[in-house]
Amino acid sequence: MQIFLDTAEPALIAGHARTGLVDGVTTNPSLVAKAGGDFFEGLQTICAAIDGPVSAEVVATDAVTMIAEGKKLRTLADNIVVKLPLTLEGLKACAALAEDGHPSNITLCFSVNQALLAAKAGAAFVSPFIGRLDDIGEDGLGLIQRIRTVYDDYGFGTQILAASIRSLEHIEGSALAGADCATIPPSLFEAMVQHDLTDKGLAAFLSDWKASGREGL
Ligand code: E4P
Repeated sequence: MQIFLDTAEPALIAGHARTGLVDGVTTNPSLVAKAGGDFFEGLQTICAAIDGPVSAEVVATDAVTMIAEGKKLRTLADNIVVKLPLTLEGLKACAALAEDGHPSNITLCFSVNQALLAAKAGAAFVSPFIGRLDDIGEDGLGLIQRIRTVYDDYGFGTQILAASIRSLEHIEGSALAGADCATIPPSLFEAMVQHDLTDKGLAAFLSDWKASGREGL
């Protein structure tokens, strides 16, 4: 499963990109507002730091303007993916952009039916929101599983990008459910590597080594 960072903070992204473990980035208008700074400059910095797709969202609600905004975003860098809302206008924009060779990420997906339409519109990615479904008492990870089944049964190439991830269990569950990618807040990316038994085990190995009178290799 590919790991994307769910943030619009260029410095944070550049730091984590140096691990070699980050495959892409997703942003949304709320994340951009939180990060501050110039939208286009920030996106260019992020695109230069990441060797993979960077989703940047349109803010228009009609297809014609979405297409224009999408094409403008695509001039910023080759790895920009146009993020469009899962509305009929967004799907129309997705199909038109796909026809011209521009990849889209269809966001705010909350049902299999919506995911089916995103695939039919030629989306490169669909983003089912796990956490927001859990928030209303539904099964976010179950949606990932059901979309996987439908996409596999019908041979759709749209990648499932698990989004609205709130916990380590969401990350593991997305991988088990067959998501192609998961977009993760930076704090959870940092938490993925941690395990108490790893820390304890390493401390014991190093202490035993030192106690035997040995130094570095
Ligand atoms: C990413 O594409 C989504 O915009 C993001 O994961 C939404 O997360 P949230 O539900 O925590 O705002």
